[in-house]
Amino acid sequence: MDTTASTGTAIDITATPEWQALAEHHTALRDRTLRELFAEDPDRGCRLTRQVADLVVDHSKHRVTDETLRLLLALAERAGLRERIDAMFRGDHVNVTEDRAVLHVALRAPATTDLVVDGQDVTRDVHAVLDRMADFADRVRSGEWRGHTGRPIRAVVNIGIGGSDLGPAMAYTALRASSDREITARFVSNIDPTDFAEATRDLDPAETLFVVASKTFTTLETLTNATVARDWLLRGLGEGTDEGAVAKHFVAVSTNTDAVREFGIDPENMFGFWDWVGGRYSFTSAIGLSLMVAIGPGAYREMLDGFAAVDEHLRTAPLAENLPVLQGLLNVWYTDFFGAQTHAVLPYSQYLSRLPAYLQQLTMESNGKSVREDGAPVTTATGEVYWGEPGTNGQHAFHQLLHQGTTLVPADFIGFGRPNHELGGGDQGDGDMHDLLMANMFAQSAVLAFGRTAEEVAADGTPPELVPHKVMPGNRPSTTILAPQLTPSTLGQLVAFYEHTVLVEGVIWQIDSFDQWGVELGKVMARQLAPALTAEAPPELDSDASTTELVRTYRALRGR
Ligand code: F6P
Repeated sequence: MDTTASTGTAIDITATPEWQALAEHHTALRDRTLRELFAEDPDRGCRLTRQVADLVVDHSKHRVTDETLRLLLALAERAGLRERIDAMFRGDHVNVTEDRAVLHVALRAPATTDLVVDGQDVTRDVHAVLDRMADFADRVRSGEWRGHTGRPIRAVVNIGIGGSDLGPAMAYTALRASSDREITARFVSNIDPTDFAEATRDLDPAETLFVVASKTFTTLETLTNATVARDWLLRGLGEGTDEGAVAKHFVAVSTNTDAVREFGIDPENMFGFWDWVGGRYSFTSAIGLSLMVAIGPGAYREMLDGFAAVDEHLRTAPLAENLPVLQGLLNVWYTDFFGAQTHAVLPYSQYLSRLPAYLQQLTMESNGKSVREDGAPVTTATGEVYWGEPGTNGQHAFHQLLHQGTTLVPADFIGFGRPNHELGGGDQGDGDMHDLLMANMFAQSAVLAFGRTAEEVAADGTPPELVPHKVMPGNRPSTTILAPQLTPSTLGQLVAFYEHTVLVEGVIWQIDSFDQWGVELGKVMARQLAPALTAEAPPELDSDASTTELVRTYRALRGR
């Protein structure tokens, strides 16, 4: 009996002539070096650099020729990429396993966009929420919104996890230069009590506003932290404070009005979004409320416009000039033909220190799949492991492996023309701090690409026994993204670029990049196990021997 239920249509992309052509091309190309490719085509650095909005994207240090790109684009056409992009923008249910539209692009579309999906006037609803958010953010920022004791709000604590945390948390760090320094934003996500304790330890409850952000409003971590926050608030406001105080200090962001009400937050103080916004794609929904309070509605709208510029590029640019498309195809090239398993994100900006964590959810929850949309097993690798750290810190930690290790790690370098802080340094005539930062970035991608041969190392007078240790293999691919400055707009452009890259890869692999069934079982099991950790008399565990023993040890450590 065939037990495979079909949830959509899919093809075996690896069985197509386009895939076969790429496999053959890879065999011919895999031993060619970037040195050779650059020597043959001195104009390559310029030719393979393109611009989308303010982002200048250099793809020249990739192990590709024009023929590779032609074949990758043919693969994209075979996979139906253009139709899938159009379907997403149209509001078709491209999230097939959850039977939902995928419309995060509508969250930043201009108010003039005509989009009615499943009977909902999407643009009107999006802008109505945005206007409410802006009004609320202005009232908090101006001091008009006051806490229970009449004091203005000085701290906004976002309680959420995954997509209800990582976007605003990453962006708050990224946009500190644009934020109101009189109001601090904190982000509590982990169910580890440490997170809440440390985030609130120096806050005054009378001046603190909690934003409880959860698409489903059922997430254990978030509801537990929110309950702890309510206790903290009522206790902190002093004896006799009634539940009425909660209304002045709690707002919710969710799609689930009933659960918000049940939790005790007045739906009047709720900012909604819709089930066609996936959790990890929800950053530009009301989930961005805490960020909007921090940076202000004006800067927030600039960020949305940045997103929209790249959305429009994805929608309208021919695939051959479409930067997220090209980036996604290059990722497929390395994952499936070179066997790369990870992808490094190396922002040369301390402000982007949380970008790798944000991208981990975006990319890995989306494309960490092993069955296609139709339920059949995939026949090639999917989903790279994303990781990274800001440069130059990473150089002094893991770049050794990038340069001389045995693993191929495609990398993205991200840098800016102008710093957000002009500080001196560089008294040797070698530029200021930002110049030195960027010189490091350019040096790293050049060394990765071109390396250093044994002859070159020996020519420096290196003792022969050390030569092999100093050879830099090179031929390690990277993308460089340069923007004028880190601003709300360029941050939006960057995030949209990555969002769409994920879509492109998912379409090639014929997987559903918008569901996340793989996270459910662990949640269910945690709920089942919790009583065994706490009950006075340990219940018989219907668990594997390892888990049973770990629970027993834990109970002993907890003195239970
Ligand atoms: O566990 C994964 C997940 O469902 C993510 O997809 C989501 O972003 C996160 O949990 C939080 O979910 P919610 O916003 O419903 O609390």
